[in-house]
Amino acid sequence: MDGNRRWATKHLLPRVAGHAVGVKNIKPIVKAAIDYGVQSVTLYAFSSENKGRAKDEVESLIDLIRKHLLPLSKEVLALSARVNFFGDISYFPDDVQQIIDGIYKEGEGLTKSVNIALNYSGRAEIIRAARLAAEDGELSESSFERHLYTAGTPELDMIIRTGGEKRLSNFLLYQAAYSELFFTDTLWPDFDKAELIGLFDEYSHRTRRFGTS
Ligand code: IPE
Ligand code: MG
Repeated sequence: MDGNRRWATKHLLPRVAGHAVGVKNIKPIVKAAIDYGVQSVTLYAFSSENKGRAKDEVESLIDLIRKHLLPLSKEVLALSARVNFFGDISYFPDDVQQIIDGIYKEGEGLTKSVNIALNYSGRAEIIRAARLAAEDGELSESSFERHLYTAGTPELDMIIRTGGEKRLSNFLLYQAAYSELFFTDTLWPDFDKAELIGLFDEYSHRTRRFGTS
């Protein structure tokens, strides 16, 4: 979900104000994806690297998480999907961690998922999974994958990055091995259902060979 601050600048708002606008776009896009039939959606909301931004921006991002997580999770549950969290949530203040724990428990048993990457780093996820798999006594692809945050979710088919940059920025690095990548110049607050459905259509016309043909 890239491009919030540029959106704010374009609309003559303070840069940090773009995040509050971007947050409002999460629900309609998640709903559109789940309604379309997507089984698992992952939102890259706050990367481990984002912690290095200016203190006031980090604080306002944490405030937005504190304010919007519970209402968003209700919307997700209403779509019969659970909310999962990818990343090291021990970084967040206790009250935010409590909100996260409560939300996580509420969705138990649901198969569709909306995963929110918070303090997430793809490299850290790989190191963590390797360590846990080795602790189990065996390091194989299947033992490793059981310890990824995505364990139990389907293959990662599509990655969409808004905001014009053409890179993964430490997002789901292991899972992206055969994902189809989509980059749009649209800034996240302007990304809408019509564009999402257009990308699903483009995806349906791509031939996926997984290296076998
Ligand atoms: C993405 O928007 C949102 C987060 C990182 C939380 P940016 O904040 O990266 O906005 P731009 O890319 O500077 O416009
Ligand atoms: Mg950015």
